[in-house]
Amino acid sequence: MNRLKGKVAIVTGAARGMGEAYARLMALEGARVMMTDLRAEVLEAAAANIRSLGGDVTPLVCDASDIDHWRELTAKTVETYGGLNVLVNNAGFATATSCENFDQALWDKCLGVILYGTVYGIHCAVPEMRKAGGGSIINVASMTSFSAFPNTETPIREYGVDSPYCAAKGAVVSLTRAAAWQYAPDNIRVNAIAPGIIDTPIIADLMENPENPIVKFWRSRLYLPSGFGQADEVAWMGVFLASDEASHVTGVTIPVDGGYLTV
Ligand SMILES: NC(=O)c1ccc[n+]([C@@H]2O[C@H](COP(=O)([O-])OP(=O)(O)OC[C@H]3O[C@@H](n4cnc5c(N)ncnc54)[C@H](O)[C@@H]3O)[C@@H](O)[C@H]2O)c1
Repeated sequence: MNRLKGKVAIVTGAARGMGEAYARLMALEGARVMMTDLRAEVLEAAAANIRSLGGDVTPLVCDASDIDHWRELTAKTVETYGGLNVLVNNAGFATATSCENFDQALWDKCLGVILYGTVYGIHCAVPEMRKAGGGSIINVASMTSFSAFPNTETPIREYGVDSPYCAAKGAVVSLTRAAAWQYAPDNIRVNAIAPGIIDTPIIADLMENPENPIVKFWRSRLYLPSGFGQADEVAWMGVFLASDEASHVTGVTIPVDGGYLTV
């Protein structure tokens, strides 16, 4: 309790999945949290639930890929809570397309949310964090920042390698290092979390078919008896990175993947 007391946080993509978990756990650790998402009704319900648990949260519908929304969100955060100390760039979505089947709109949408959304967030947060004497920016990468879907088996190839997603999540790792270098003198730490396979709505459709070769492949990379990861198991890493306990941690991307990348 109270590991984040006195801090103000923004969490994007906070209506469900890991975003909801970051917002809930941070609020229950004493942060005041602006929760943003595109899904208005789900966002309102998630915020109401966190309030019922005793958290101080404010929902605001925002598109993370729109810089004007970011400007409004930052202004509203400062107006509501008096400053900004923590930013979680969590909003994201998966596609299933490649370079060969090039779709400009899909690539633009994916890079717009995951890469530009992260850039816009940093752009808007840094001036406010400077005023506060420092802060913590937590970007959300992925195991696909480091590892593509397997492409050696024909059935898996049929599902498509998610090239824009892998490209965007890879860029988030490099951007995290660059921003950590740039803003360290301002006492702003910039880190990323690389979740493994986490049981959230983003992969629910795939999970419905246990015969899906991708699901079978993922299962072969489960080492812990607990199986696929849960949103809270990832969000606790976010709480740590947001807290003063992580005061000497910057520029890294930390896998929370049950060993997927390294075992
Ligand atoms: N679930 C996994 O296995 C997994 C693994 C690695 C990385 N990730 C990443 O973790 C993050 C959270 O994923 P999740 O599994 O909780 O997914 P999710 O689909 O459950 O939640 C993502 C949320 O982001 C919101 N969102 C999407 N586009 C947005 C936009 N333009 N503006 C604002 N909100 C937007 C969605 O409405 C949704 O509520 C994403 O960045 C995802 O790519 C997930």
